Formats: sequence, C-alpha cells, structure tokens
Amino acid sequence: MAKKPEEYRVPRHVCIIMDGNGRWAKKRLLPRKAGHVQGARVVEQICEDAWNLGIEYLTVYAFSTENWQRPKDEVDALMNLLRKYMKDSLARSSKNNMRVRVLGDISVLDEDLQQSIRELEEASAQNTGLKFQVAINYGGRNEIVRATRKISELVRDGKLSPEDITENTFSEYLDTAGMPDPELMIRTSGELRTSNFLPWQIAYSEFYFTNVLWPDFDKKELENAIDFYNGRERRFGGI
Ligand code: IPE
Ligand code: IPE
Ligand code: MG
Repeated sequence: MAKKPEEYRVPRHVCIIMDGNGRWAKKRLLPRKAGHVQGARVVEQICEDAWNLGIEYLTVYAFSTENWQRPKDEVDALMNLLRKYMKDSLARSSKNNMRVRVLGDISVLDEDLQQSIRELEEASAQNTGLKFQVAINYGGRNEIVRATRKISELVRDGKLSPEDITENTFSEYLDTAGMPDPELMIRTSGELRTSNFLPWQIAYSEFYFTNVLWPDFDKKELENAIDFYNGRERRFGGI
C-alpha cells in the first residue's frame, strides 16, 4: 500500500458489477453455468474479505432486468443458483453476522424464491456485521420508475406535497433507502459501462474497472480497487 495506514481511506460502501463469468467458463471449455457457480463462490469469499478490510456496505449486481433476454437454460441456472444462495445464506448469516437485503423488483420471481428472500432478510435484519445487498431483477431505470410511482400515489392521496420532494426524500423511495451512496464502483472483465446499475446512487462514485474476470476476483483485487480509490481526489464539484 502506497500511503501510510492513518491516511488510508476504506470506502464505507462498495458496489460491484460482477461480470465475466461466461468468459471465464469459455476459457476453460466449460458451460457458462460453471462460471456462474464459481462466481457465486467468489461472492461469499469477498463478503468476508470486504468486512475484514473495514467495508460496511457491499452491494453486488447478480441479475439485471436485461438478463431475462438470455437463453432460458441460463436464466434457469442463474435462478437456481440464487435459490441455493438464499438457502445457504440463512445459516451463514447467523454465523458471520451479515445483514442481507435484496434490491430490485422481486415480485416477478418464482414464489418460493421470493419466500426465501423474505426469510433471509427477516432473519438477518438485526445482524450488525457487513450490510450486504444483492441486486436481483434490478434495473436502475426501473427502480427510479417504481420510486416515482410510490411518490405519485402519496401525492395523489394528499400525503406528500410536491414541494417536499427533494433529492433526500426521493432517495428514501429507492431500494437503497437509508444506505449511504457507494464511494466506489467496481466492474470486472474489462467492460467500461454501468449497465443500468445504481444510476442515482453512483452519480458521484469513483469507478474502478479491471480486466480480471469475476470468478478470478479475490481479496488482492479488492485491495487494488481500494488503493485506486485512495489515489483519487474527490472534489464533488469544488476545486
Ligand atoms: C456476469 O457474468 C453474471 C451475470 C450477468 C449474471 P456474465 O454471464 O455476463 O459473463 P460474460 O460477460 O458473458 O463473460
Ligand atoms: C451486468 O452484466 C449485469 C450483472 C452483472 C448482473 P451484463 O453482462 O449483463 O451486462 P452487459 O450486457 O454486458 O452490459
Ligand atoms: Mg457480462
């Protein structure tokens, strides 16, 4: 690490676009699903590493509103992985004290998966360790539209006046209500775009792009991203 420890800043909130599972599998002549399986293992490890590095909030993009366009067998494989993940996390979160929440519109997911998500969110709600968010059927534009609908209903019913809609109140209707904005956004696999991930929340985040494929991502890579963040000067429009 280049800087002295006392100057070293660890972001409170890191969000990750976990990309490159398919290419990782292809390189090994494996089915894409194998990349997703390995990717899910990496998520578990990175949760531990993030907490050990002092990160408070970690948010990962697991399935976008656009990912439904993939072939049915891949979508099914991803949903089954998420099913397994929710079940496994129930036991794990009680051991590692992690609080898990899901971002996105889960109402279109299979009923049993919705049920597992609710169970996990409720069971881990009081945990005081890492606050871990998984974005499933998440799209940033969709999130903003859903928030606008909730706000419009309140205005229609006379419970909120248009003048009271500020950036702060608007944030409270997003899926990330109550969470600080991510200081750092990481995307793996060399793609230089944000793919509809947290457009409102990352308005002032630093972006770290790496060519490493998600299934190869590890603690060292996470430290590299935090080193990069430490090299940036955050100005927020000032000089
Ligand atoms: C990211 O890996 C995982 C999901 C989008 C669910 P990809 O499946 O997008 O992997 P590539 O981009 O095809 O390599
Ligand atoms: C973004 O990755 C979505 C997730 C990581 C869940 P994609 O691989 O789906 O994004 P595009 O299609 O390359 O933009
Ligand atoms: Mg991809």
